[in-house]
Amino acid sequence: MSLPTLRTARLNLRPLAQHNRDDIIDLDSDPQVMKYVHRGRPLTRVEADQDHQERLSASRQVPGLGYWAGYLDDTFIGWAALSPIQSNSGTFNAQKAEIGYRISPRFWRRGYAKEMARELLRYGFEELGLLEVVGQTMAVNEASRATMKACGMQHVRTLYIEFEDPIPGSEDGEVEYAITREEWLELQLHSK
Ligand SMILES: CC(C)(COP(=O)(O)OP(=O)(O)OC[C@H]1O[C@@H](n2cnc3c(N)ncnc32)[C@H](O)[C@@H]1OP(=O)(O)O)[C@@H](O)C(=O)NCCC(=O)NCCS
Repeated sequence: MSLPTLRTARLNLRPLAQHNRDDIIDLDSDPQVMKYVHRGRPLTRVEADQDHQERLSASRQVPGLGYWAGYLDDTFIGWAALSPIQSNSGTFNAQKAEIGYRISPRFWRRGYAKEMARELLRYGFEELGLLEVVGQTMAVNEASRATMKACGMQHVRTLYIEFEDPIPGSEDGEVEYAITREEWLELQLHSK
């Protein structure tokens, strides 16, 4: 199953594709974007391309899950994902996915991450029949936490992980957020 194109009030979410390579290289070479992700530093072209290829292959693991490029008219603004979760035994969970997003700083604080994430939750619960969506970020990443919260996701736990090469702020831990299908349905009733 190929990924569908999704639409929000202001954006088109098109399946991330090979032709987005340069968009991704631009995004991932920006220190502001990478401050709390990956190793906390901008990626080289080679690293960004490698990550791009991994995202494209992640979009082939579980039907309907993957990465979307967000477009404002024809301008790429960043990506959002419902990515597959792999168990220790290597199998993929078809009922649970992980939400994620990365947006170019010139488009920050205009509600675009929230808009994309809300549409991915709707798509995941309504169209894919997911039972749960989770998300993880550094505790100090206020923007990412606020985005999950604004979508109705709740903080479930904080993990303290030892990294070989820790990013400043990682001592505060990684926070996990989640929302179940029931919780999402309940929110829809109250938002009408
Ligand atoms: C996280 C990110 C995608 C948010 O994108 P955005 O389009 O600016 O977010 P939105 O405008 O939709 O805002 C969503 C919520 O976050 C809040 N927010 C956004 N930036 C914030 C910041 N720097 N500090 C605190 N809150 C912030 C907004 O006020 C909003 O909350 P509200 O609805 O309660 O008012 C963007 O900052 C980004 O790409 N960061 C770098 C990559 C990254 O860290 N991704 C997440 C990794 S897990």
